[in-house]
Amino acid sequence: PRSIYLSRHGESEYNRIGRLGGDSPLSENGLTYAGRLLQYFETENLSDFRVWSSQKIRAAQTASHLKDLAGHTEFWKCLDEIDAGICEGLTYEDFESRYPKQFAERDKDKYHYRYPSGESYEDLVARLEPVIMELERQSNVLVISHQAVLRCILAYFTNKNRDDLPYLKVPLHTVIKLTPKAYSCEVEMFPFKI
Ligand code: F6P
Repeated sequence: PRSIYLSRHGESEYNRIGRLGGDSPLSENGLTYAGRLLQYFETENLSDFRVWSSQKIRAAQTASHLKDLAGHTEFWKCLDEIDAGICEGLTYEDFESRYPKQFAERDKDKYHYRYPSGESYEDLVARLEPVIMELERQSNVLVISHQAVLRCILAYFTNKNRDDLPYLKVPLHTVIKLTPKAYSCEVEMFPFKI
């Protein structure tokens, strides 16, 4: 069975306090997850196992726990999280109170909404095209990235439409295993209790 695996980085310091984006390190829980991820892939015992990570500290830290198991680890800038522009580092509450009109606009059309000085989901889909093309030809790759980016990748492999894409469930501390079937992919979710 040839599968592709998706995981968000372990919980970061910013996740813990509900801030968007940034480049914070893993929290204590996040470090625990990274260790559990190693155990999971030791058990999977895959041939030619590789890791593709974003260039954010929280993803690279998660990937570093797997470096002895993976044939090699590649760091892709295009796997970095959606750029929230002027909202980077804010909580959703800050965003709503500082920029109420923007907040409402995002709620109305989350796929097309572009953060001022930042990106939209539509932008992300375009930026991810090269990595998705490359992933299609691979198996036994673990992609360590971020919520919005992984929603785009998951939507691609499961034929989800633009309305659903920005709301797909990609929780922390969960491995998503995609196994190609005739016209789509089987999706298995493995949530870890941390
Ligand atoms: O909160 C974690 C996070 O990865 C943020 O960095 C990012 O802006 C957000 O999730 C994306 O999710 P949504 O599009 O639902 O705000």
